[in-house]
Amino acid sequence: MTPTAEASTVPAVHPTGAALGADIGNVDLNDDLDAQQVSAIRAAWNDHLVLRFRGQESLTLEGLAAFSRHFGTLDKRPTVSFDMSREHDALPPDITVISNVKVEGKPLGALGDGEAVWHADMTYNERPPKGACLYAVEVPPSGGNTHFSNMYLAYETLDPVLREQIRDLRCIHDASRNSAGELRLGFVDNTDPRQTVGASHPLVSVHEGSGRRCLLLGRRRNAYVVGMDLADSEALLDRLWAHATRPELTWTQVWKVGDVMMWDNRCTMHRRDAFDPHSRRLMYRTQIAGGTAD
Ligand code: OGA
Ligand code: MN
Repeated sequence: MTPTAEASTVPAVHPTGAALGADIGNVDLNDDLDAQQVSAIRAAWNDHLVLRFRGQESLTLEGLAAFSRHFGTLDKRPTVSFDMSREHDALPPDITVISNVKVEGKPLGALGDGEAVWHADMTYNERPPKGACLYAVEVPPSGGNTHFSNMYLAYETLDPVLREQIRDLRCIHDASRNSAGELRLGFVDNTDPRQTVGASHPLVSVHEGSGRRCLLLGRRRNAYVVGMDLADSEALLDRLWAHATRPELTWTQVWKVGDVMMWDNRCTMHRRDAFDPHSRRLMYRTQIAGGTAD
């Protein structure tokens, strides 16, 4: 008998049962995944928007980057406004650190230990990222959970009158501060949404992969609906945000060491709870560039 090539395992998809999210089992992200495995994961990502791979404790940073590259080109790590530790600067250029850990008094990563308010990543750019992968290496005993919200459902469940009202409206997305409230390098402080610096996008976006419509809100602070009176813009955005972050549109990730989360940034938002500053949280992150084919 001629030996046959070992058949690759088929990823198992277990939906969370909530508005979004699925666990993917039967896959080791350090492996060189074949085309069938990648297309099964891509299909699950398309269906569930946010995927969780548990038990990936042995994943290397090279493995995380190689896995992420199956879904598009990776963005380089952005420049941050504070002096980072040497350990951070020595990492591969497509790996970002999300952490409150300090080395010799300097941060190893971004976002600290406070709340990261609801947002989609970098929608203040013309071409926001397609998605991101976040790999947990150290997690606090409590707190630091990450919540995700389904922006397809947010659009579909919107009051039809409101849906019609926002059909052709655009919103400006503020680039000045990150989700932890820190001022980004090169930006001045601004509290008037009419002066916001950042890209404008339609409030109703068509997802370039699925062709489905979703709400595109980005972040609340300093957002401004183009052409509206400020008070009207604020009232409209408050209504949309209250709707888009309702608990029934969300699912919460309670982190375990070895979890890898992968989110579609074009049709979801996320928020992180604060956690005890005395505990350590260390995550490695890759970001998949926007505009690359699905
Ligand atoms: C991010 C982010 C939240 C978290 O990496 O884009 O918002 O849970 N992270 O650390
Ligand atoms: Mn984020």
